[in-house]
Amino acid sequence: MNNKDIIALTGAGQLGMAIIRRMAYGKKIFVADWKLENAQAITQTLIEAGFDAVPFKTDISSRASILELISAAQKEGEIEIFVNAAGLSPSQSTKEHILEVDLYGTAVLLEEFGKVIKPGGTAVTISSQSGHRMPALTPEEDRLLATTPTEELLHLEILQPDNIRDTLHAYQMAKRCNVKRVMSEAVKWGERGARVNSISPGIIITPLALDEINGPRGDFYKNMFAKCPAGRPGMADEVANVAELLLSDRGAFITGSDILIDGGATASYFYGPLQTDKK
Ligand SMILES: NC(=O)c1ccc[n+]([C@@H]2O[C@H](COP(=O)([O-])OP(=O)(O)OC[C@H]3O[C@@H](n4cnc5c(N)ncnc54)[C@H](O)[C@@H]3O)[C@@H](O)[C@H]2O)c1
Repeated sequence: MNNKDIIALTGAGQLGMAIIRRMAYGKKIFVADWKLENAQAITQTLIEAGFDAVPFKTDISSRASILELISAAQKEGEIEIFVNAAGLSPSQSTKEHILEVDLYGTAVLLEEFGKVIKPGGTAVTISSQSGHRMPALTPEEDRLLATTPTEELLHLEILQPDNIRDTLHAYQMAKRCNVKRVMSEAVKWGERGARVNSISPGIIITPLALDEINGPRGDFYKNMFAKCPAGRPGMADEVANVAELLLSDRGAFITGSDILIDGGATASYFYGPLQTDKK
């Protein structure tokens, strides 16, 4: 048994790696992804930069797979930090699959890591500005997304295929649910002295965003960053700036929160030049 604390990352992408690099010195990193080759590639980069990292194969849409990751990590030490940056974008899969990974998978991760996080530990999960663009749900719908037992979530009426228009709508519902789940989980995490928050990025250049920019909604995305106050897409390291605050002691009074970092795109959707393009 080594006596380092553990930092667990699900989603071996650019956002995940940028965040981990801020927090992982002196800790052992479990880099998990359903594509082992992605986990191995990020692990290799981290090792070459002096970090202590191991790759792990985990599918976040499976509770059994998540429990395998937790159990392997716990054999090495206490899990002090958890970062979830795994997800599918609207152009990457079907609406059912997006709900399984982005909505259900995130809910299970928050539940299971919440049971084992070290007292005083912290977590962030990556949601999206896309959820902020969607009109408000009713208070009852919000409550259902926040508090329905995880195994019943995908049976909710509002998430049935007939009530989900397309993959973008599935993604937006998943990301709205992430924010609500973080709020309800923060109460339970607080009983362990632990904190959990989400970050809602706008367009950040990563392989996932490039799939969107080069996919069927490419023009929509290019227009979005052209007409947002920042006038450009963001970078993973800018998201890591926010994550560092949330995951460190400097964010000690922040829990159950969602931080929007989108170059002002949401502001422009509601009150600026993007109003006419609202989706
Ligand atoms: N990049 C953006 O513009 C942007 C904007 C808003 C939100 N996000 C969110 O940020 C998160 C990270 O995305 P990124 O931009 O770093 O993309 P990325 O493609 O660099 O990384 C995402 C990783 O998640 C993995 N993954 C997908 N499904 C998985 C599953 N079921 N189990 C385990 N791993 C899985 C992928 O294999 C990939 O390695 C996603 O949730 C995404 O929705 C990204």
